[in-house]
Amino acid sequence: PVLVVDFGAQYAQLIARRVREASLYSEVVPHTMPVEEMLAKQPQAVVLSGGPSSVYADEAPALDAALLEAGVPVFGICYGFQAMVTALGGTVERTGLREYGATRASVRDTTSTLFNGQPDEQSVWMSHGDSVSEAPEGMRVTATTPGAEVAAFEDDERKLYGVQWHPEVLHSTFGQRVLENFLLRGAGLEASWTPANMAEELVEQVREQVGESRAICAMSGGVDSSVAAALVHKAIGDRLTCVFVDHGLLREGEAEQVEKDFVAATGVDLVVVDAKERYLEALAGVSDPEEKRKIIGREFIRVFEQAARDIVHDRGDNEHPVEFLVQGTLYPDVVESGGGTGAANIKSHHNVGGLPEDLQFSLVEPLKALFKDEVRQVGLELGVPEGIVWRQPFPGPGLGIRIVGEVTAERLDVLRAADKIVREELTLAELDREIWQCPVVLLADVRSVGVQGDGRTYGHPIVLRPVSSEDAMTADWTRLPYEVLAKISGRITNEVPEVNRVVLDVTSKPPGTIEWE
Ligand code: XMP
Repeated sequence: PVLVVDFGAQYAQLIARRVREASLYSEVVPHTMPVEEMLAKQPQAVVLSGGPSSVYADEAPALDAALLEAGVPVFGICYGFQAMVTALGGTVERTGLREYGATRASVRDTTSTLFNGQPDEQSVWMSHGDSVSEAPEGMRVTATTPGAEVAAFEDDERKLYGVQWHPEVLHSTFGQRVLENFLLRGAGLEASWTPANMAEELVEQVREQVGESRAICAMSGGVDSSVAAALVHKAIGDRLTCVFVDHGLLREGEAEQVEKDFVAATGVDLVVVDAKERYLEALAGVSDPEEKRKIIGREFIRVFEQAARDIVHDRGDNEHPVEFLVQGTLYPDVVESGGGTGAANIKSHHNVGGLPEDLQFSLVEPLKALFKDEVRQVGLELGVPEGIVWRQPFPGPGLGIRIVGEVTAERLDVLRAADKIVREELTLAELDREIWQCPVVLLADVRSVGVQGDGRTYGHPIVLRPVSSEDAMTADWTRLPYEVLAKISGRITNEVPEVNRVVLDVTSKPPGTIEWE
């Protein structure tokens, strides 16, 4: 593998992802791992990540020079670059010249290993307070930036390379090329890693973790939990049971899609719990958004716990108790909640509406190091239906938080009918991949006057909320073509009698969130 040594940056997984993009297999290891252990993994190349530390800090993680003498090609990034310098006898200084954000690098040699085939000026993204003032002996300085005399170096003899900036972020225009040049030219590796390999590797890891035990998976029908379920199913077969809670807050056809398409494609053992009545009762008379969310989350836990007990009971197999809970946590979820191992739970809770604190299961999170597009690739590889793989995000609390006001069976029917039309028309206009998601919201407590067929109407407005986004942290409203909007509006007001007005939400996030509640 290509080992990415994590010096405590939130970039380590991103570097690993970039290595995968270069079609090479990568593994992230902590900087605390002894060099012998790293070498035991027989790395073909090593990338040292950036880190939040200054090489001067007391607790600064040091780099064992033995790693640089093992004959394995090494590429240092940012902190990793400086750690190399310190280990090899160069000088890192507090120059007072700090560089944060985008700057320009001047490349001295565009025929060098790292910069081959690139322009001599390139935009790079930096984040450093210390700078290398003197390169270690034998290192050829190949680039400089306004704040760093030594911004890149190479030694083809010892196969040691480094850059002060972050080639893994998109703001570094030639970043991927620099990394690939290291991997393919510097280390001489052959690009051969594919999504198929990635799926296989993940399946193997799950097999190892779960052993002979049973696992259950809380299925939402979304991409992440579906792909996680498919992976785990491939690993442990029918020792996995998926539980899908139909809380009645789903969109038209959603439960059926999971029951039919997903099961048909993957053959997983699926238990569908019909909890519609239970949810309607619990939500009766409640219109405060936070209260609704709490109720939906609480009921989910209860239904899910009961389902888990039933599974153990039904299988009557005490040799293999349900020990594991499968979650479709992705890497951005981990980052969002502050990184680290424990942090992953925060978003997982959020995903399913909250799992109990004293959860009796160990978590299996096979997608934890991946990004959404990679998850989609793995999903396609495992035969998860395209309709699920390309699904837009849908919140766990579902339509419950898209009815502004009390949630009732009638209102859910109205919203479901309008939502179905919107989804049909967006699909027809081939806009699904262009928009991140398009919540359809029923303003159940608002009425307005209209006229239809010579008569007065007094109906409810439907809000369209199409958004474009990279990661849902920020978003902009999508400029849908007028014809598409007109068609949607016409169909909703004609086909859904309770609705006499369709309005478009033209707010970005911030200040508006994507959902209305
Ligand atoms: P907001 O409304 O916060 O939404 O801008 C950001 C993204 O998260 C989704 N969302 C949720 N997903 N459980 C989920 O699994 C939730 O409780 C939840 N609330 C919002 C939302 O659809 C959007 O994609």
